[in-house]
Amino acid sequence: DWTMASFRDEALAQIRAQVGDGRVLCGLSGGVDSAVAAVLIHEAIGEQLTCVFVDHGLLRQDEAKEVVTLFRDHYNIPLVHVDASDTFLSALAGVTDPETKRKTIGKLFIDVFEAEAAKIGGADFLAQGTLYPDVIESVSFSGGPSVTIKSHHNVGGLPERMNMKLVEPLRMLFKDEVRVLGRALGLPPAFVGRHPFPGPGLAIRIPGDITRGKLQILRQADAIYLEEIREAGLYDTIWQAFAVLLPVRTVGVMGDGRTYDQVCALRAVTSVDGMTADFFPFDMAFIGRVATRIINEVKGINRVVYDVTSKPPGTIEWE
Ligand code: XMP
Repeated sequence: DWTMASFRDEALAQIRAQVGDGRVLCGLSGGVDSAVAAVLIHEAIGEQLTCVFVDHGLLRQDEAKEVVTLFRDHYNIPLVHVDASDTFLSALAGVTDPETKRKTIGKLFIDVFEAEAAKIGGADFLAQGTLYPDVIESVSFSGGPSVTIKSHHNVGGLPERMNMKLVEPLRMLFKDEVRVLGRALGLPPAFVGRHPFPGPGLAIRIPGDITRGKLQILRQADAIYLEEIREAGLYDTIWQAFAVLLPVRTVGVMGDGRTYDQVCALRAVTSVDGMTADFFPFDMAFIGRVATRIINEVKGINRVVYDVTSKPPGTIEWE
């Protein structure tokens, strides 16, 4: 009979047995999974753990600040915060292909992480918040061959090159179980309840090339959308909600002038594990309110559309 309390005790014992008196590095992504892994490991081995947070410049509004505050101030867990946004954004300049974006970000992430690890004297183990669904890299459609849809850069890769062994205490868990564990470990409920966020961040929510200007526009639209969702009391019902900035400009009219600005698509889905998903049936008045706010408040967007595609046949992210 599986309970969270017994899982937690077993996980703590397993981490201690695996790590001994070795040093562990944990890469924080800003998401729930790596945060729960870090807090669990910290409970098991205390100061043998150091966390590294690589900010690739593709995070949402205030995200980096929230993570750093949580770990340094609330938990007192040693945290190296690297602002690597210049490095990532220069490498991504002109890159438009979704998988090339992922590969560029994944490779750079390893380089930056490796350099930071070396600076603090290295470690014997690398901890990751890998979940069970992350382990299943390819999706097989019934009757058809197995096809890789998207390469998720947060699975594998690092340790082989870095000569570190992997610590992945969440690899048998699903998202809802990680949230139960996170709450049991005392993480703030608002943090534990956060929607999943992909490793490549906003890079895969800007089809076409990525610029600082587009990132800024997308962050503002996304923040307004999420604020309205929270205010409507819908945040916890929805698996993931986010804005996508389309590389399309359309004509509009505002005041007595013509506008020629970008289109923003809104996405919201319900899901159990991210493998399949249904688009969320907002009522139209809500969508209309969000659209009006985004168009009035965000310079650079003059049209908003809502994505009514479920998964399959769509994927959750647009890239
Ligand atoms: P898709 O778009 O494949 O997304 O339906 C399923 C879940 O995975 C997230 N996702 C990613 N996470 N690296 C990640 O760490 C990635 O490259 C990546 N691509 C998609 C997505 O946000 C959703 O939760």
